[in-house]
Amino acid sequence: MEKGDILGHEGVGILEEAGDAVELREGTKVVVPFNIACGHCFMCERQLQSQCETTQNVEEGKGASLFGYTKLYGHVDGAQAEYLRVPMAHYGLIPAPPGVPDEILVLMADVLPTAWQAVAYADIPPGGTVGVWGLGPIGQMCARIAYLRGASRVIGIDRVPARLAMAQRHDVETIEFSVVDEPEEEVKRLTDGRGVDSAIDAVGMEASGSAVEKVLSAIKVKPDRVHALKSAIAGVRRGGTLSIIGVYAGPMPGFPLGDLFDRQVAVRMGQANVRRYTREILACVTEHRRDLALDDFVTHVVPLDEAPAAYRSFQEKEDGIVKLVFRP
Ligand SMILES: NC(=O)c1ccc[n+]([C@@H]2O[C@H](COP(=O)([O-])OP(=O)(O)OC[C@H]3O[C@@H](n4cnc5c(N)ncnc54)[C@H](O)[C@@H]3O)[C@@H](O)[C@H]2O)c1
Ligand SMILES: [Zn+2]
Repeated sequence: MEKGDILGHEGVGILEEAGDAVELREGTKVVVPFNIACGHCFMCERQLQSQCETTQNVEEGKGASLFGYTKLYGHVDGAQAEYLRVPMAHYGLIPAPPGVPDEILVLMADVLPTAWQAVAYADIPPGGTVGVWGLGPIGQMCARIAYLRGASRVIGIDRVPARLAMAQRHDVETIEFSVVDEPEEEVKRLTDGRGVDSAIDAVGMEASGSAVEKVLSAIKVKPDRVHALKSAIAGVRRGGTLSIIGVYAGPMPGFPLGDLFDRQVAVRMGQANVRRYTREILACVTEHRRDLALDDFVTHVVPLDEAPAAYRSFQEKEDGIVKLVFRP
C-alpha cells in the first residue's frame, strides 16, 4: 500500500456515468464485486473470475486485479469514497434487486459470495458437521450458509465475545480458543473422536496463537501465521475436506502436508469468484434473507470521515464490531 491509496473492497452505488460497452442505464443502483474481471477470457469462461487473464497481475505473479488491495493486485482505488471508477464495468456490475437496504446489498460484493464459495469448496456431506475456524464476517456467513445448504451441525472457533455470541444466536456450537488451548481436541471430543466432515479456515494468516501469542508479541516475534490452519487440519476427520478461504501469501513453513496426505484430506482454496455465484447471492439477499438472518449482521454503520477511528476499533475488535459499513 502507499500513502493516499483508497481502500474499499466492497461497493454499492448509483451508476453516474457509463462507458459505451456498459449496457446498464445511468441511474441504476449497482453492487460492485471485489474482483475485476473481463467476462470473456479463458479463465472467466471457466467461471474463475479471480484468475481473469485480462486483469491478471503477471509481473507480480498474481491473479486478477482487486479493488483497494495493494500493488500486488493491480493497485486499483477502492470503494471507500464518494465516487468509484469501475474498470470492466460491462461485466462486473450487478444491478441491485429492488427493496434491499444498502447494508445488505453490500454483502453481495464479497461476504456472501466468499462464504458461498467456502461452503461449496467444503463439500459438506448431506447432514454433515462443519467446523468454522474464525467467526469474523466471513466465518459468520459460512456458518449460516452451511446450515442453509444442509449441514446438521456447525461448530465455530473464535475468542471475541461479540462474535461468539452472534454465532450462538444462529445455532453454532462455539469453542473459545483463548480458554481451550487446543480447540481441535475439543472439536474431536464433540464428534466421536473423529473430527468434523468439513473444516473451513476463515482466519487467514493474521491468526492468533493462544498460549504463546503474548510472549511472542512481547519480544516482537510474529505469532505463528498458520496457527488456525494447523488447528483446522487437525480438526477435520480422515477423508474429510478442508476449505481455506482465509488469505495466505508466501511460503508457510511448518505446513503439515504429510498429515494431510496420511489422513486423505481434500483441500480447496482461493479468492472468491464473485460473478460465478450471482444467481445464488441474489437469492441470498431476497428469498433467503430471513433464513440467513441478514438483518442481524452489520453491527455498525459509520460516516466515512470517522473511518480512522473505526479502523482502530475494528482492528482491536472493540465495541462489539463484527461487520462495519461506511456511508460516504
Ligand atoms: N478468499 C477470499 O476471497 C476472501 C474474501 C474475503 C475475506 N477473505 C479472508 O477471510 C479471512 C476472514 O475474513 P474476516 O473479514 O472474517 O476477518 P476477521 O479478521 O474479522 O476475522 C477473523 C477471526 O478469526 C479469529 N481468529 C484469530 N486467530 C484464530 C485462531 N487461531 N483460531 C480461530 N479463530 C481465530 C479472530 O478472532 C477473528 O474474529 C481473512 O483472511 C480475509 O482476508 C478471503
Ligand atoms: Zn477474464
